[in-house]
Amino acid sequence: MPPWGPLLLLLLCPCVCALKICAFNAQHFGEKKVAKDHVLTVIVQILRRCDICLLQEVHDTKGLATAKLLGALNRPHTSDLFLSVSSPPLGRNAYVEQYVFVYRSDKVKVTDQYKYADNDPSNPDVFAREPYIIRVSLPSTALLDLVLVPQHTDPDTAAAEINALYDVFLDIRGRWRAENIMFLGDFNAGCKYLSKKKRSSLRLYSDLVFHWLIGDSADTTVRESTNCPYDRIVVYGKELQDIVHSATIYNFTRELGLSEAQALEVSDHYPVEVDLDGCERLLSSCSLIGLSLLAACGMGLSP
Ligand SMILES: *[C@@H]1O[C@H](CO)[C@@H](O)[C@H](O)[C@H]1NC(C)=O
Repeated sequence: MPPWGPLLLLLLCPCVCALKICAFNAQHFGEKKVAKDHVLTVIVQILRRCDICLLQEVHDTKGLATAKLLGALNRPHTSDLFLSVSSPPLGRNAYVEQYVFVYRSDKVKVTDQYKYADNDPSNPDVFAREPYIIRVSLPSTALLDLVLVPQHTDPDTAAAEINALYDVFLDIRGRWRAENIMFLGDFNAGCKYLSKKKRSSLRLYSDLVFHWLIGDSADTTVRESTNCPYDRIVVYGKELQDIVHSATIYNFTRELGLSEAQALEVSDHYPVEVDLDGCERLLSSCSLIGLSLLAACGMGLSP
């Protein structure tokens, strides 16, 4: 490849400036889990695909597991630097979980954050783990202001908690006048925890300004014996919707060639992820220039 080969690829490949946001219930993520090298390796492979990943079910009040994870992500020979934002431990009793956002510092700037108060007079303490909300800027896309709302519901109160995300939405709009908001995480939004009938009554579902990117037929569970769309991504806002390229689950069993048992050591959930388009205005001209360069390159190098 000529010295400007990598540049050529950059111009040809529109995905280079796109952005991937993921949500992964890493089932009881803590020191024990990251102590297993083969498990940590898989988690690193999963997270390296994402520019932002929301980890849920994190048990790491000392921050040691997250530090080890970042150390593995930021190996010396890699150029990109991953950073993290962790919520405080959240829960009603001794059982607590944290939300942890792991992100690429060259693609994502965290501009603000707060914990939802969860003290709405008509509906106090509805969340088992209230959203720890972050606001980011994504300079590689057209989106300079995006709010991310993490949620891991208690399965037994999933419907009430998903419904209350609408109050969180109003709170965010009032506080920041945010125009682009993404709700993501393990909502437990399916199977026995959320019937079709219940779901249709949820404000986040019935109000058509919200778009559910992971549909009801998705299976976000690792176990072969289960088929449930627990983990979801829901978006609000025109700018954001306009750059949604695709959304899917990441089947790491298949993609990384694992057995079911090996995959279950990592988690019982698959990550869900959304790809955003980047550099929209540049894209078509980039590809044209790239194609002509490739043609020129082909002619110059052929024997
Ligand atoms: C994930 O991949 C495995 C292995 O190919 C497959 O057996 C399983 O059905 C897939 N699960 C989902 C939810 O796609």
